[in-house]
Amino acid sequence: MTAIWPDHLFPNHLFLVGCGNMAGQMLSRWLSEGLEPARVTVLRPSGKPVADGVAVVTDYPAALPAGTTVLLGMKPYQIADVADALAPLCAADTRIVSILAGTTLAELRSRFPAARDIVRAMPNLPVGLGEGVTALFSDDATDSAARDAIGALIQPLGLVEWIADEALFNQVTALSGCGPAFLFRFVDTLARAGEAIGIPADQAARMALATVQGSANMAARAAVSPSTLADQVASPGGMTRQGLNVLDADDRLLALLTDTLAAARDRGEAMARGE
Ligand SMILES: NC(=O)c1ccc[n+]([C@@H]2O[C@H](COP(=O)([O-])OP(=O)(O)OC[C@H]3O[C@@H](n4cnc5c(N)ncnc54)[C@H](OP(=O)(O)O)[C@@H]3O)[C@@H](O)[C@H]2O)c1
Repeated sequence: MTAIWPDHLFPNHLFLVGCGNMAGQMLSRWLSEGLEPARVTVLRPSGKPVADGVAVVTDYPAALPAGTTVLLGMKPYQIADVADALAPLCAADTRIVSILAGTTLAELRSRFPAARDIVRAMPNLPVGLGEGVTALFSDDATDSAARDAIGALIQPLGLVEWIADEALFNQVTALSGCGPAFLFRFVDTLARAGEAIGIPADQAARMALATVQGSANMAARAAVSPSTLADQVASPGGMTRQGLNVLDADDRLLALLTDTLAAARDRGEAMARGE
């Protein structure tokens, strides 16, 4: 049964600029949660259909409906062209949500001077399942009611985390934005390690994925932290403890993951400098 979209989540119209991998996942979740397709317009140069009942346009309309929420979902380098066409259509009641990596709030404010409420969002791909993570940031110029409305719009996509400091965007992107790829690599490596100690490859692959999925679900429901859970399931002198000792020696897993996130963060900072 289709969920009924709570009206307070979405007062008027959603205008998506670009609807590729990421914005497409967001829209797909909103539609499956009951957002009326008639409230959505997608602008994409290819004109490819998106979903039944969603209007797709290849050029900007003459005007946006009052109170439109715009989702900027194209590539960051397209911001100048998009702003040239879109900024004149924006008014004080236009809300802008930008998922453009590396495009600062100050730049968005300068490109869309008429829009008062602007929020940066960094979603990750599982938003399509409603199991994503989206970091949000805005400043005091954005009305608190608009922040609440945008937070409520993002909430069906999974965990929503407002961050206090925009300078942390590359850090949170390294963790949750890039995190799915790191987890995919971990699952694959766990399977290959199983194979290396003698488990048939296809069985190791199935077991590694199900182990990660089940353990993540268990940790999400547990009353204690993952760190405590790990210790609770590792009896002294047992097999699990022996394996954890390898991961824990010299904090090697921590060092590996810190290096991984730092490399992703540093790349984000370099891209923001145009390198
Ligand atoms: N992928 C991720 O995991 C991820 C995570 C967080 C944030 N982001 C951000 O999401 C944004 C999109 O990334 P993506 O991976 O979804 O890219 P993508 O799949 O290549 O999608 C880009 C979209 O932009 C449209 N587009 C191209 N030129 C345009 C123009 N001149 N004006 C308006 N729209 C235009 C494309 O139209 P057609 O469909 O017609 O080709 C397409 O729908 C980026 O800014 C990225 O920083 C991505």
